[in-house]
Amino acid sequence: MNVLSDDLHDQDRHWSRHAKRYDEVFLDPYAPEVENPLWAALEAIPGARSKTVADLGCGTGPLLPQLAARFKRVLALDFAPGMLERARARLAGEAADRVTFLARPMHELGDLAGNVDVALAVNSLVMPDVRVIDRTLQAIRAMLRPGGRFLGIVPSIDAIAYHMMLLYDRALERGLALKDAERLASAQAERRYYDFVFGRFHYQGLRQKFWQPFEIEHRLTQAGFKDVRLAKVLYPWSDVLADGEDLSEYPRSWDWFFQAGCADAGSRSVS
Ligand SMILES: C[S@@+](CC[C@H](N)C(=O)[O-])C[C@H]1O[C@@H](n2cnc3c(N)ncnc32)[C@H](O)[C@@H]1O
Repeated sequence: MNVLSDDLHDQDRHWSRHAKRYDEVFLDPYAPEVENPLWAALEAIPGARSKTVADLGCGTGPLLPQLAARFKRVLALDFAPGMLERARARLAGEAADRVTFLARPMHELGDLAGNVDVALAVNSLVMPDVRVIDRTLQAIRAMLRPGGRFLGIVPSIDAIAYHMMLLYDRALERGLALKDAERLASAQAERRYYDFVFGRFHYQGLRQKFWQPFEIEHRLTQAGFKDVRLAKVLYPWSDVLADGEDLSEYPRSWDWFFQAGCADAGSRSVS
């Protein structure tokens, strides 16, 4: 089955193109004002000094210095050369020695099977073709040692619908007619870029998967992960989101953090 090569080649070019302006275009889950469950989950991994972590779709490498400071070995994988170039530039000295860069798509992990303790995928499980996502999740599962952990963040499509609902209500409160309020909210939340049923986003050649929480549980479980747990990464309302500063009285918008385990041989528990 060759569903992978053409589509991925096209997307790695688009991601490389976005590398230079990455910080302006994407919401930053690492910003100090963001409530991000990833930090506590990483802290909770016991014995990291003797473990290998793989940052899958590492992008410009914002996590790499921290991972290199904490883990014995770090694999930094991305299929976009422009991203890896920026990631390499973040590291120096001893930290750089602990990181191995891998320029390849995330489903090609066969040579690492059973060798990695922790897999991370922060906003990188975004392949628009769900067959590629399923194959990637299976490869990640096979890459992990028994008792390994898989942690990540995925973009949330339900949060886009939530934001649009708030914008719609506000337009109605301002006295707009139903149709006009709908049009305004759709324009403000850039509805035209999203497919809400299949969970997809399309913008300037970049095509990304966006997730519903039930789909995260479904696909991870189907790929053989156990104990899938979800939590919200909460973003402050700000001018990065349409009308954000006026929405601060409402609960914050979010992406989905997940963590999952692999059963130890002969046991279902997760370390
Ligand atoms: C939104 S960025 C996130 C980068 C980084 N994890 C972070 O938190 O800043 C998504 C990254 O995943 C990479 N990516 C997307 N699909 C991929 C795939 N199938 N194989 C490898 N890398 C992929 C892109 O090149 C990009 O660098």
